[in-house]
Amino acid sequence: MDLTGKEIAILVLRLLFGLVYSVYCMVETLVLTLIPRSYRRKDIRGNVTLVTGGGSGIGRLMCIKLAARGAIVVTWDVNEEGNLETVRQVVAAGGQCRAYTVDLCNRHAIYAAATKLKQEVGKVDILVNNAGIVTGKKLLDSPDESIIKTFEVNILSHFWTTKAFLADMMARNKGHIVTIASMAGKIPCNRLVDYCSSKFAAVGFDESLRLELQVEGKTGIKTTVVCPVFISTGMFEGMTSKIFPVLKPEYVADETVDGILLNTPIVYLPLSAKINVFLGLLLPQKVLYYLSEAVGLTHMMDTFVGRKKTK
Ligand SMILES: NC(=O)c1ccc[n+]([C@@H]2O[C@H](COP(=O)([O-])OP(=O)(O)OC[C@H]3O[C@@H](n4cnc5c(N)ncnc54)[C@H](O)[C@@H]3O)[C@@H](O)[C@H]2O)c1
Repeated sequence: MDLTGKEIAILVLRLLFGLVYSVYCMVETLVLTLIPRSYRRKDIRGNVTLVTGGGSGIGRLMCIKLAARGAIVVTWDVNEEGNLETVRQVVAAGGQCRAYTVDLCNRHAIYAAATKLKQEVGKVDILVNNAGIVTGKKLLDSPDESIIKTFEVNILSHFWTTKAFLADMMARNKGHIVTIASMAGKIPCNRLVDYCSSKFAAVGFDESLRLELQVEGKTGIKTTVVCPVFISTGMFEGMTSKIFPVLKPEYVADETVDGILLNTPIVYLPLSAKINVFLGLLLPQKVLYYLSEAVGLTHMMDTFVGRKKTK
């Protein structure tokens, strides 16, 4: 520390102001929650919205729901059949949707698809990094290739998609980058070492990017990270959860779309899962392990079989 008396005085004043500001923000949050969501949602009509992994699960549901709000939806998925089914469902519901078959493990394919998308549809306004995979094995049983693939899909692809579209957003100071992470990006879990690590990275990606955009003065570009517990999409088939509810995909898609429309920085699903994050910071490691054992957290992946085939 090498501060002059004057600098210390200014720092103390700024810290005091920070306290007042935090009270103001808490009151603001309280007031906002009293205003019905319908009055607070932003208008996304005509917004080009890219959803990765839109060929199945919550990705498909988000495509349908975002298109229903007037967005021009694009889905990228490695599963061509699932992707086309998403387009069919969106169009049948009266929305606009295009599908591109893209393998998110391939950085060059991502950049090529981004160029094509800009030429054929337009600049992306909302990017939803949703695609994800899970191996569900103990670390020593996980093949190296599975670990690498988990990181390529669950986090590295976020870098490439964001790099492909962020410059246009920055030029307009308008856009939204959404990260579908997981509660596995906030709390650890055995037999999910690679998955949890990639999701912790996804949370870090969102939080660091948000800060970077703020520092750059690009306050018109929003970011949202979504941290759900388990969802009954089939991705975690066989897993048994004693304390966490298994969420319905419809609920997760609805809350995620609202997170985008309300510019919410962090969406915990369910909201009560936030308590686990708080306890994780507060309690000693030994107590956390004891509680994890007691509530069955350490055994929930014992019966995991995973998704048999993608639809
Ligand atoms: N299902 C859960 O319990 C759960 C819980 C928390 C978070 N999440 C996260 O939510 C997101 C969506 O999960 P879901 O349950 O809808 O899963 P899902 O398996 O139904 O959908 C994932 C999609 O990603 C696509 N995909 C996988 N690898 C790809 C690749 N290399 N290139 C392009 N697309 C690829 C798949 O084809 C699939 O359509 C994932 O990021 C997942 O980690 C899921």
